[in-house]
Amino acid sequence: MAPATVSNLSCGFDVIGLALCEPFDTVELELTLTGRVEIMAVSGCNTISRDPGKNVAGAVLKAIADAVGNNTGFRITIEKGIRPGSGIGSSGASAAAAAFAANQLLGGVFSMNETVRFAMEGERLASGAPHADNVTPALFGGITLVRSYEPLDIIPLNVPSELRCVVIHPETEIKTSVARGILDREIPLATAVRQWGNLAGLVAGLYREDYDLIGRSIVDFVAEPRRAGLIRGFTGLRSAALACGALGAGISGSGPSVFALCRGSETASAVLKGMSDAMQAEGIAFDAYLSPVSTAGARLI
Ligand code: HSE
Repeated sequence: MAPATVSNLSCGFDVIGLALCEPFDTVELELTLTGRVEIMAVSGCNTISRDPGKNVAGAVLKAIADAVGNNTGFRITIEKGIRPGSGIGSSGASAAAAAFAANQLLGGVFSMNETVRFAMEGERLASGAPHADNVTPALFGGITLVRSYEPLDIIPLNVPSELRCVVIHPETEIKTSVARGILDREIPLATAVRQWGNLAGLVAGLYREDYDLIGRSIVDFVAEPRRAGLIRGFTGLRSAALACGALGAGISGSGPSVFALCRGSETASAVLKGMSDAMQAEGIAFDAYLSPVSTAGARLI
């Protein structure tokens, strides 16, 4: 299995993400000598293709089979617990679960960075952009920073013990490719200065376990101004989170899910209720999650 993830954390577009405890995707994988990737079944979602060329887990396994050679093939069954287009790393979880399971079957031949690279092939298929901010925490758990893509440099960050994450997932779908397509290609220097100040502040806050600093830092001047309009009720959701004591709140990944970071389970429960009430007032169906950061990531079950 591999868990859902919250990427970007507002200030770290494409470079930072955390693993949730739930929901998660599960795969069952068999190593074959057919030289082919076969998707036997996909449950939990009827819009996902069983064609390996159009399926994120299929893309990952194809890349691994090609790298290993010798007629290596895989037979996979996928159980989706995370709805596609949710903003909580649905494609990333399937990609991570497939890469992790394949590496297990192959005796752990691939390094951490190689496993991430294979999982990124799923993201390439899903969004056109092979980003690693979802697949990395989905594989390894915790909060992870992609300091560099070329070469790949993954930094696991400190997870403050009282940190809790609330996620509201409205039952609408936003395609990551669409949410990426509306972003500015260039950022004014003054905007970049504010954004990297916040990202550095978030990392410092995580290490100092300074919850107020974490809250001040999860502000997005780059993607959120463009993407907020795609999410009905976004402003109300964030206001409700802050009014109930959240440290900060923003768009999870490319949306439509909205996340809030909180200090302690009691505050997180109040934030969950406040955000749920705001969603109900909008009349939009939604799922809600309250989770500590999962330190486990992908694993055998
Ligand atoms: N960092 C990516 C984005 C996450 O914001 O487009 C999407 O899953």
